[in-house]
Amino acid sequence: MAGLSGKRILLVIGGGIAAYKTLDLIRRLRERGASVRAVMTRAAEQFVTPLSVASLTGEKLHQELFSLTDESEMGHIELSRAADLVVIAPATADLLAKLANGLANDLASTILLATDKKVLAAPAMNLRMWLHPATQRNVAQLRADGVLFTGPDDGAMACGEFGPGRMSEPLAIVAAIEQAFDAETSLPLPAGLGGAKTGALAGKRVLITSGPTHEPLDPVRYIANRSSGKQGHAIARAAAQAGAEVILVSGPVTLPDPAGVAVTHVETAREMQQAVEAALPADIFIAAAAVADWRVEGEAREKIKKGAKGPPMLALVENPDILAGVSKMPKGRPPLVVGFAAETEKVIDHAKAKLARKGCDLIVANDVSPASGVMGGARNAVHLVTLQGVESWPEMDKDEVARRLVAHIATLTPTGKTSS
Ligand code: C5P
Repeated sequence: MAGLSGKRILLVIGGGIAAYKTLDLIRRLRERGASVRAVMTRAAEQFVTPLSVASLTGEKLHQELFSLTDESEMGHIELSRAADLVVIAPATADLLAKLANGLANDLASTILLATDKKVLAAPAMNLRMWLHPATQRNVAQLRADGVLFTGPDDGAMACGEFGPGRMSEPLAIVAAIEQAFDAETSLPLPAGLGGAKTGALAGKRVLITSGPTHEPLDPVRYIANRSSGKQGHAIARAAAQAGAEVILVSGPVTLPDPAGVAVTHVETAREMQQAVEAALPADIFIAAAAVADWRVEGEAREKIKKGAKGPPMLALVENPDILAGVSKMPKGRPPLVVGFAAETEKVIDHAKAKLARKGCDLIVANDVSPASGVMGGARNAVHLVTLQGVESWPEMDKDEVARRLVAHIATLTPTGKTSS
């Protein structure tokens, strides 16, 4: 992903157990071409070592407000100015309280007060601390001041409790950082990060399926495929960045939910179909999921046992075709329906046949033979197949495919209000 290439991130690390995830965040940001300068609070040093942070950033670490050498080389004001984005991870209750109230009594809080850059906070704390009215007041104040937030997530906490307060996973923070930059470079802020919606898909409701489906054989086994959901999720992110209201129906994937997108998680094709039907109407439907064509007839209630009778005979039944169903809706069909064709041979021929059979307006066809590395990989080479002809794009990053596809789709979308 070249999205963060050359971006300068000032990372403020607060004192919380989640700081160990911040080490991974630094790696992820640098992998994407960003440079990271870190500032640690005194408390943060109790959780991760300054040496680890300095080694991973490859930059001088800043810890002291009143450091003679630091102030002569790069004072706290320059530090906060020489960044494109300030990220607080973990954002502790204490750091949020200081920033909400304008306190500046150490290097981290002074930088946060002195910066003229956008600030993104990834809170992490015990759930009672997060839910405390004082913290919630501070968060509301910071949102009003324009501070962006990602998380916290719900889940098991280091303190043994369960609830909201876990810091977002590093990849989710990376996604929020990318969105913060996209927002800055003239695209609108996605929902959840605040801001008015403008952009090529502003006012459009876009429904997207992504990922594989899992079709159970019994309570512990299932049939699946190698789809990672990377392309569908990237399209959801790009559509949100283009100002659309995006609903993503995702099969089981290991990707974080894209920021600013309403996500429904499903397992099976039939659950995916129900979620799609519940989310309609939409202006645009994009079926990027690798839906299993078949499921096992009569899923076993108990785990199937090995026995004297030998291997079980599995009978398959066809799953509903979600894309064809939406394309052929007699009433309320989305004005633009886009399908995918993942093929291992005769890619364009199969895609043309699929366009006709499924009744959609555009098929995005790609070669998923093992040699192409597309399934689960980061890159893709697609052909856009319509009744008018075929447009082939060169191989590129899945995020780039997503951005171009969204821009292309915007040119095909009739202007006007959401269909109903
Ligand atoms: O028929 P095939 O699976 O190759 O078609 C691929 C396209 O149809 C993709 O857009 C996929 O999301 C969609 N599809 C679907 N429901 C199915 C099978 C495929 O929506 N049961």
